[in-house]
Amino acid sequence: MARRWSKKKRPAFEDKQVTERNLISHRVFDDKTLRVLVHFLDKGLFQSLDYPVSSGKESIVFRASKADGSFIAVKIFKYETSAFRKFAEYIQGDPRFALKDTLRARVHLWAQKEHANLRAAKAAGVHVPTPLAFRENVVVMEFIGEEGIAYPLLEQAALSKPKKALDSIVEDMRRTYVDAKLVHADLSGFNIMGAQPPVVIDWAQAVLRVHPRAEEFLLRDAHNVARFFQRRGVDVTEEDILDKIR
Ligand SMILES: Nc1ncnc2c1ncn2[C@@H]1O[C@H](COP(=O)(O)OP(=O)(O)O)[C@@H](O)[C@H]1O
Ligand SMILES: [Mg+2]
Repeated sequence: MARRWSKKKRPAFEDKQVTERNLISHRVFDDKTLRVLVHFLDKGLFQSLDYPVSSGKESIVFRASKADGSFIAVKIFKYETSAFRKFAEYIQGDPRFALKDTLRARVHLWAQKEHANLRAAKAAGVHVPTPLAFRENVVVMEFIGEEGIAYPLLEQAALSKPKKALDSIVEDMRRTYVDAKLVHADLSGFNIMGAQPPVVIDWAQAVLRVHPRAEEFLLRDAHNVARFFQRRGVDVTEEDILDKIR
């Protein structure tokens, strides 16, 4: 059983109610999203949405409960123009996907791409949440946590064995590059969960190695990972990381 590094606090019941009211007022649960959620409920993927684990510009991630008492994660992409500016750049040059005109179609493609990238990474043996389903703007995946509490992000986790965590992440980067033929392109302590071993999340922007900017993104990922571990006292450079990946 994976060991927890620190506990993330569950929101108090009152906070949850407030958050849910805010969600509705920010129209996360527009009619179409509700219909998708009901579809998943009907299919038995989960029984209830419990609370938002995180709410960002592009998406909200919920913990959801299954009938057997276990948990899954439900990532809902928001239909907001501003957050999808960078979209085109990460789709161009990817023969798996064609650029879409409407905002809705773009958001759907983003969810589909996250699901496809998660599958490819998972098949290559990378530590990622197992993807379970996607539809329109929603991706359902394995919940990364313990006893219903999400693991903290690596950025916030107290790392007892940083070298071991680094080795696992670099091996995940190698498998992503060599076997899945992808580059994550947004790797940092904010997109890795502090499980043991660490789990890499947030794959919508990941690109194929044939993408014109794939090498640039790989260098940036290696740079971010090296910096992160240098700050935690590990003797590592981005060249060390790139040597192991290539
Ligand atoms: N599978 C998961 N299990 C538990 N928590 C998750 C999972 N996926 C994401 N999260 C939580 O939700 C947050 C946002 O997810 P992420 O995929 O990084 O989306 P964003 O695009 O909003 O950054 C993460 O920082 C993490 O705390
Ligand atoms: Mg993220």
